[in-house]
Amino acid sequence: MIDSHAHYDDERFNEDRHEILQKCVDEGVSHIVNAGTDVESSYASVSLADKYPFVYAAVGVHPHEASGWNDDTLSELKKLAGCEKVVAIGEIGLDYHYDFSPRSVQKEVFARQIDFARSLKKPVIVHNRESHQDILDILKSEKAYEVGGVLHCFSGSVEMAKQVLDLGFMIGIGGPVTFKKAVKPVEVVRYVPLDMLLIETDCPYLSPEPVRGRRNWSGNLKYILEKIAQIKGIDYKEAEMATTENARQLFKF
Ligand code: NI
Repeated sequence: MIDSHAHYDDERFNEDRHEILQKCVDEGVSHIVNAGTDVESSYASVSLADKYPFVYAAVGVHPHEASGWNDDTLSELKKLAGCEKVVAIGEIGLDYHYDFSPRSVQKEVFARQIDFARSLKKPVIVHNRESHQDILDILKSEKAYEVGGVLHCFSGSVEMAKQVLDLGFMIGIGGPVTFKKAVKPVEVVRYVPLDMLLIETDCPYLSPEPVRGRRNWSGNLKYILEKIAQIKGIDYKEAEMATTENARQLFKF
């Protein structure tokens, strides 16, 4: 199985990062995409990718950090994106739940990074929280469909999923689909064709049931696969093979 979205550079892994990453391999995790959230964590993602053969990096500036964008940011990201194991630009997007950066700045920084991804012909990893319409509008106006990508930890409706699929984007499914009160993510998994689903942890955040609330890690992907298999009425193995193949296609592993 492939973890399409993780943050192993997070300080919550400082004590045991090496042991946890080794344990991922023991659990059958073949690839991990570690997503950057600013220039510093993009550097950290690339250095994890340098150190571990099964770790790959995405580099980019998260909407929370959009206010920190300056004249040097793009050249720093360009340097990093030249590294062999950088497979995507991310995570980038909009977050209107926290609004840590002004919306106008978030939109500008999102658009500039889509343009950057297109110049590199790399897919984008998109973060969206309570910003559904603006995400769709910007993906369209900036022609993000030329490179494709994934809406990570998808939180929209079936109606939005349909529009995302129409743009050729994949849908990332994480811990929330397993939560006891989950409705929308379950409907979305039922609706989206198996060949457009990715699995992810977003660790250390968003642990699935039955380990919700604890620090997340890629070994917990099995709970997400179990849930997808149950919703779609397929074997666990089929869900695992399909989502692995989808990640291979998108990130060109
Ligand atoms: Ni994330």
